[in-house]
Amino acid sequence: MSQSTTIRWEQDETGVVTLVLDDPDQSANTMNQAFRTSIAAVADRAEAEKDSIRGFVYTSAKKTFFAGGDLKDMMKAGPADARQIFEAGMEMKRALRRIETLGKPVVACLNGAALGGGYEIALASHHRIALDAPGSKIGLPEVTLGLLPGGGGVTRTVRLMGIADALLKVLLQGTQYSPRRALENGLVHEVATTPEEMAAKARAFIDAHPESQQPWDAPGYRIPGGTPAHPKFAANLPAFPANLKKQINGAPYPAPRNILAAAVEGSQVDFETALTIESRYFTELVTGQTAKNMIQAFFFDLQAVNSGASRPRGVEPRKVRRVAVLGAGMMGAGIAYSCARAGIEVVLKDVSAEAAEKGKAYSAKLLDKALSRGRTTEAQRDELLARITPTADPADLAGCDAVIEAVFEDTALKHKVFQEIQEIVEPDALLCSNTSTLPITLLSEGVDRPADFIGLHFFSPVDKMPLVEIIRGERSGDEALARAFDLVRQINKTPIVVNDSRGFFTSRVIGQFINEGVAMVGEGVDPASVEQAAAQAGYPAKVLSLMDELTLTLPRKIRNESRRAIEEAGGTWTEHPAEAVIDRMVDEFGRPGRSGGAGFYDYDETGGRTGLWPGLREHFAGEGATVPFEDMKERMLFSEALDTVRCLEEGVLTSVADANIGSIMGIGFPAWTGGVLQYVNGYEGGLPGFVARARELAERYGERFQPPALLVEKAERGERFGD
Ligand code: NAI
Repeated sequence: MSQSTTIRWEQDETGVVTLVLDDPDQSANTMNQAFRTSIAAVADRAEAEKDSIRGFVYTSAKKTFFAGGDLKDMMKAGPADARQIFEAGMEMKRALRRIETLGKPVVACLNGAALGGGYEIALASHHRIALDAPGSKIGLPEVTLGLLPGGGGVTRTVRLMGIADALLKVLLQGTQYSPRRALENGLVHEVATTPEEMAAKARAFIDAHPESQQPWDAPGYRIPGGTPAHPKFAANLPAFPANLKKQINGAPYPAPRNILAAAVEGSQVDFETALTIESRYFTELVTGQTAKNMIQAFFFDLQAVNSGASRPRGVEPRKVRRVAVLGAGMMGAGIAYSCARAGIEVVLKDVSAEAAEKGKAYSAKLLDKALSRGRTTEAQRDELLARITPTADPADLAGCDAVIEAVFEDTALKHKVFQEIQEIVEPDALLCSNTSTLPITLLSEGVDRPADFIGLHFFSPVDKMPLVEIIRGERSGDEALARAFDLVRQINKTPIVVNDSRGFFTSRVIGQFINEGVAMVGEGVDPASVEQAAAQAGYPAKVLSLMDELTLTLPRKIRNESRRAIEEAGGTWTEHPAEAVIDRMVDEFGRPGRSGGAGFYDYDETGGRTGLWPGLREHFAGEGATVPFEDMKERMLFSEALDTVRCLEEGVLTSVADANIGSIMGIGFPAWTGGVLQYVNGYEGGLPGFVARARELAERYGERFQPPALLVEKAERGERFGD
């Protein structure tokens, strides 16, 4: 075979051909041009030498079985490349199909992760065996990158498990299964514990099925569960989770919509036509902007962030062994759980033994739930709980090499608790505060070692939220930053790094989103439309309901403190139109938000939302402003994007990847955008288009939409964020 082959043909004396996937030019196998050429050559040879072949085994010489599509190529694919992408995909699928329909048994031995293209090769096999190795994952996560499985994945999963299961278990959520769970859910036929066992199972299958074929190629085959007549039918099945319905019916996520259409339309035609339909929908996605945004964020930016692009160089990595968590309230309890889950010893301290025990009980509750769902074992639960020591006695903190403080939001109290423990913990222990609003530099004044002091801002609920914002105070040292970064990675979360400033990055920017929604209510815009605009823009939470959750008094408190600080420093405070609305809601109408029983929404006795407060329309009708729906959406998106650019300008942010990841994973900026700065990059007309639109919004709605100088300059230079 030619030099460029990525598949080795190894035929033994019994006639079994092992097809070893092994791209000589890359660390992982991908569906690149070399693979397409190689698989076509394999199909040719298979047909030519059919009589001497007993069966085929796909396996890989790499650590992962097969990585999937070539994402770097996809980032470059524009509408002009559509024809070529479609043809190349079809050519590869025809080759896999020729091998699949040769009449010989084909077995996939998944010796490592088989995600995306890897699992699609497995689906084109008659028998799938997964090696139960740590880190092995199986599934079709394309949707999470704004794509669909265009290598036969939609067509085959629909025929393997029926439309509903294919959509819900595999295609629409991109679930990555462990080998055991892949087996339980019907994605693979067998699991092996050693490579030898896997090879023996493959051989046994070939021996037992000399003339194997796929179920969908057998006479009389029907798709399990039947085929719905219309795409919307499937999306409206009661089993469809609400977030998926939202994505399919409205918000700007083309991938779920295309997946649904490819599955439903493909189920009504023959296999070959279904493959063509699938490729058409795939090509539309891969040449569009959303997939590029999502690949940028969830592949390139996430990798940059997690691999330490913002971590100071030259500081030796260190692992934390024993952490002190101060305050066992909502945040402290969650932080304790996340640390213990990563194998760290936790001393959880509160003012009383009961309060500390209560914090530990939170972990027990989470673990019991996981146990009931089969996600953990009793032994694992007991081990994790044994790592958490609740206490009210500072002496128990001896030996701790890191401290995470999560007591009430009060500077004097935070100073006091650090004073109380700094002589007891290790002399060089890392000192972190989980404050959500207090300046880190100010807090560092209360500790003896300000260079070791840093902000570690977790998000609620801690066990679920993947992001941690590390805040560097003026006196935080490089060593502290590197150690904080390592600690966040140690507990399997994603760290972004920002410099100290009011609201840091995340709280400050989400505040703009909320203010914009509230300001529209003040202008007399129908509140239900404001909520609808947030949903249609792709925000996971509606803006007024989010304000109610956070409580209206919180932004007021923060605003008053910021205003005082700015005025004390000789500056002037620029009022936001949302402020007057919030003041009236609290002072005039006594509606401080959900915890107070009334806010923008009404609530019943159990705290359940019963509907938007009718008084909003009465009291804020104003001129009855008509704001075009597109403007409503873009006012929210632009307010956050513009403030993020100001964060870059002011040095609060230093990394574009941190901004993108922080905005999606921390504060719910819509994922289809690829993050807040990728939204600017990907806006129609690029940066110049964004600047022009910002100026238009400024003219219509206020000076806060004027583009900052950094944005204007970059647009003029023809640059993008991240260049
Ligand atoms: P919380 O009120 O649930 O818990 C605070 C805990 O600190 C209480 O259990 C209290 O007994 C304990 N405490 C008070 N004085 C103490 C002392 N001297 N020693 C030990 N423990 C003491 O508050 P929550 O929500 O957990 O917040 C804690 C911190 O985390 C605050 O600084 C808050 O601003 C911050 N934060 C909160 C977020 C949230 O969503 N609630 C998000 C991110 C940060």
